[in-house]
Amino acid sequence: MAAIQKGIAMSLPAILSHLRLPIIGAPMFIVSGPELVIAQCKAGIVGSFPALNAREKEGEPPLLDAWLTRISEELDRHNQANPDSPAAPFAVNQIVHRSNARLERDIEICVRHKVPLWITSLGARPEVNEAAHSVGGVVLHDIINNSFARKAIDKGADGLIAVAAGAGGHAGTQSPFALIQEIREWFDGPLALSGSIATGRAVLAAQVAGADLAYIGSAFIATAEANAVPDYKQMIVDCGAEDIVYSSKFTGVHGNYLKPSIRNAGMDPDTLEGSDASAMSFAEGQSKAKAWSAIWGAGQGIGAVNAVQPAGDYIDRLAREYEAARRALG
Ligand SMILES: Cc1cc2nc3c(=O)[nH]c(=O)nc-3n(C[C@H](O)[C@H](O)[C@H](O)COP(=O)(O)O)c2cc1C
Repeated sequence: MAAIQKGIAMSLPAILSHLRLPIIGAPMFIVSGPELVIAQCKAGIVGSFPALNAREKEGEPPLLDAWLTRISEELDRHNQANPDSPAAPFAVNQIVHRSNARLERDIEICVRHKVPLWITSLGARPEVNEAAHSVGGVVLHDIINNSFARKAIDKGADGLIAVAAGAGGHAGTQSPFALIQEIREWFDGPLALSGSIATGRAVLAAQVAGADLAYIGSAFIATAEANAVPDYKQMIVDCGAEDIVYSSKFTGVHGNYLKPSIRNAGMDPDTLEGSDASAMSFAEGQSKAKAWSAIWGAGQGIGAVNAVQPAGDYIDRLAREYEAARRALG
């Protein structure tokens, strides 16, 4: 498995500049766990998961600790057996929102495990960046506009993830071109782009537009290693951009959802009312999250997903398409 990315920005930190493909597998609530992360890293792209996905039962030791031990050990074993195609680094996503009561504990665990890449969302905090830097970690902060981008860098993040319109989860509303153009006016550090990227050609397009890396979430829901029920995976395969609705009803913040899952829950996706941003909460065992657990998130790019398959096979497809697109452009 040779690295096929060439000519990417010199500004990338060393751990991001030797990937097989310039891709980060984006963290997804519930969906991303150790199986998916390990498969992504072994196939040569960054794998990531939200720390909050590791939820132990009351009185049990922190599951995050166990997950990080497992990921590190499996990737070390892979590297010893495959010195010519070492695994990509992994990332942990921290939700830096006031309702995340676990943040301090989770940061302490990530520091202990010397997590190499930190993805921060929903609030930039200098102390989180300092904790990551204390163990040589690199922090990428996700933003939906240029003002948040400036704040994140002012507060000490090393790089940015531009979340454009059409992304899964709490997507932005801006065109990827507008977002990347404005950020590249003043920032030449590490920059990932997200929003509907699902083919190797789109990965190359993100780089041509000015990003260093593509950040792909929804397409990985339809993989064998994703923690999603079979019907959710199949819905990703069956649906396209027209089947996605952008609504604030389910978390209080606008996000993209699969219309058929909303219909299955007895609602009309075309007449949803919004809900208030103060409704958003990442507290443990939060009842609202449970109430909406059958409402499935996805971005607009899923029309390019045509099979449920192992993550490694999907990444091989991305690699073939990326190389073909590079050749086609000469
Ligand atoms: C089901 C789902 C859950 C998500 N959960 C999170 C999350 O917990 N934290 C986060 O930072 N982003 C989350 N996201 C957003 C992704 O990390 C990423 O920004 C997005 O999926 C990229 O767009 P794409 O889905 O079009 O590839 C989620 C996305 C989806 C589809």
